Amino acid sequence: MLFKRAKKKQEKQVVDERLQHIAFIMDGNGRWAQKRGMPREFGHSHGAATFKKVGRYCESIGLKYMTVYAFSTENWKRPQKEVDTIMRILDEYIEECFIEMVDDNVHFRFIGNLDIFPAELRAKMDKIDRETAHKPFLLNIAVNYGGREEIVHACRELIREGVQDVTEDDISAHTYTACCPDPDLVVRTGGDLRISNFLLWQSAYTEYYFTDVLWPDFSGEDVDAAVAAFYARKRRYGGV
Ligand code: FPP
Repeated sequence: MLFKRAKKKQEKQVVDERLQHIAFIMDGNGRWAQKRGMPREFGHSHGAATFKKVGRYCESIGLKYMTVYAFSTENWKRPQKEVDTIMRILDEYIEECFIEMVDDNVHFRFIGNLDIFPAELRAKMDKIDRETAHKPFLLNIAVNYGGREEIVHACRELIREGVQDVTEDDISAHTYTACCPDPDLVVRTGGDLRISNFLLWQSAYTEYYFTDVLWPDFSGEDVDAAVAAFYARKRRYGGV
């Protein structure tokens, strides 16, 4: 009797101290939905589900920090219906955080220029951050985030503090991600080869991984592929 040989499952890539922080540009939601004859908002709903799965997976492989680009300072230019959907997803996610944070290992942080959001929403973001601050896996969710805006914000803070002789460390200490190391790896899904104003200051020596996979299709196996690609590289930080 012939038995079908089971497909060998790809090894789960566990990370070490060389790879502590991965940042994701979650691109391709709109195209994923359009390919299915659905409105772009449908892609964002699926994208949000993928974000939760990928977050859990990254925590399970031993990563310490994860940052996702959920909404940029430029995304307000999108049709109002689409902006409203992303904001609704964010709002629902925040409510879920309150329920799930008790059992999760996740320290949730919302980063970006949060002043634009209603005070009530900001208060919720702040509360989740404070109440999960002791958890070991830091998840930065970038909303109304722009890399250039962040650098300007850091400069303004330094001027306000009266710092005269500004150093690189001063700027780093005033970025929205000051509480974690720079990303070791930035993963961009969706096939485009650009940075889109994401973590400009922090990614000076970051490795990049681009994939054609559209974000809603992105899986743990795709994380493994990105991690394997990262370990195949030699980081030289400008040296030899
Ligand atoms: C880019 O795809 C995606 C966004 C601008 C929004 C990403 C938001 C989510 C995945 C929801 C996240 C939710 C939480 C709670 C963090 P695109 O729309 O530009 O896709 P396209 O390139 O195919 O048009």
